[in-house]
Amino acid sequence: MKTKPIKRHQALQPLSRDHHQGLLLSWKIRTGFAKGISVDRIKNYTDWFYKIHLIPHFKEEEKYIFPILGNDNELDKKAIAQHRRLDRLFNSSLELKKSLNRIEEELEQHIRFEERVLFNEIQKVATKQQMEFILEHHKETKFLDNNTDTFWE
Ligand SMILES: [Fe+2]
Ligand SMILES: [Fe+2]
Repeated sequence: MKTKPIKRHQALQPLSRDHHQGLLLSWKIRTGFAKGISVDRIKNYTDWFYKIHLIPHFKEEEKYIFPILGNDNELDKKAIAQHRRLDRLFNSSLELKKSLNRIEEELEQHIRFEERVLFNEIQKVATKQQMEFILEHHKETKFLDNNTDTFWE
């Protein structure tokens, strides 16, 4: 059965655009492994993506988005636990291949959860003022990729 997609609120659209890039990261890791690219080359790229894109994205969500659902909200707790788990995987220097495989799977699951569940709930409960507050604090930047080693091409 097809369900009608919920239109993303304007205030959440920049974060949804980040999610698109996050899904692409998982795809790049998968493609890299399928093409037999060395773990070190993939890791160089994921390190860059994590530092430049993911850390600020997690911070913005945790500071301005999740608190809208209130203290001790189960959806928030789940998302924050997933952020910390992803932090550990990106920072891990042991068993690189295993960590990259976990990142590939878990980043995608995390993004699906936010897009399908958490962000929809935010849109349901947020006041107009809260949405404006998100907009005011978002620094819109164009996604610039790191083209030093485009192993996925
Ligand atoms: Fe997140
Ligand atoms: Fe997110």
